[in-house]
Amino acid sequence: MIVSEGHSEPAVSIALRGVSMTFDRGGEPLEVLRHVTLEIRRGEFVSLLGPSGCGKSTLLRAVADILSPTEGTIEVLGRSPGGARRDRALGMVFQQPVLLPWLSVEDNVALPLRIGGWGKRHPSGPAPAALLALVGLQGFERVRPAQLSGGMQQRAAIARALVSDPPILLMDEPFGALDAITRDRLNEELLRIWTETRRTILFVTHSIPEAVYLSSRVVVLSPRPAEIRRVVEVGMGYPRHPRMRDTGEFTRVTAALREALEH
Ligand SMILES: Nc1ncnc2c1ncn2[C@@H]1O[C@H](COP(=O)(O)OP(=O)(O)OP(=O)(O)O)[C@@H](O)[C@H]1O
Ligand SMILES: [Mg+2]
Repeated sequence: MIVSEGHSEPAVSIALRGVSMTFDRGGEPLEVLRHVTLEIRRGEFVSLLGPSGCGKSTLLRAVADILSPTEGTIEVLGRSPGGARRDRALGMVFQQPVLLPWLSVEDNVALPLRIGGWGKRHPSGPAPAALLALVGLQGFERVRPAQLSGGMQQRAAIARALVSDPPILLMDEPFGALDAITRDRLNEELLRIWTETRRTILFVTHSIPEAVYLSSRVVVLSPRPAEIRRVVEVGMGYPRHPRMRDTGEFTRVTAALREALEH
């Protein structure tokens, strides 16, 4: 018997084919991405790892339809990035939380619903208060962002990215500005949210251990112009546990990634 998974989404969430990007910097071309070809399947957790300035944010921005590649094609759930953005198929989390200081935390999370009347047209989406509970911010709905710690603000930004119920989350070094303990805690929370909601996540980080701990696959990019150097499958299953960081398998994968980054 064939059991339907009950998804109408295609099996490939994000497909990049021969994507190149060259910026014009005052008449000088700056090549940032070179022939990037990559498929990310539905429900995968994929991290991009690469040296500073290689083009990771540029790649994420191209998927999010903030930039158009110079060459190649990008499909998001079988559509153009622009179509996917209009359907709110993508949620984006940046390195800084970018919350509006004059709105309450809950109103910040609800903001994407107000833009273009999305919330009125899709009243069955997750409630902002429920998302704040999901990220562990229950009780902080009415306070202003300035009254939250950096880690709490970043959690509010994750709740905001989830409010239109997007099947894909793009995360650009979301925990880069946080201390190691808060970062580890948010890694746990992110994995819990991912397990509960089974979205596709494309995650940018500088941290090899963070990439290995979170991801099912890690893509290593070369220095600019970014080309794919290596794609490493993380053989460890889910759920992950902090103690997995001390295992031989974890060390083997981090060593392989370090080597790929260095050569
Ligand atoms: N809109 C733009 N116009 C011109 N140059 C740009 C633009 N956006 C990025 N760049 C350049 O492209 C290169 C790659 O930038 P990008 O932000 O993608 O790097 P990154 O890998 O995300 O770096 P980091 O790890 O430091 O965040 C840099 O040299 C940057 O100056
Ligand atoms: Mg960046």
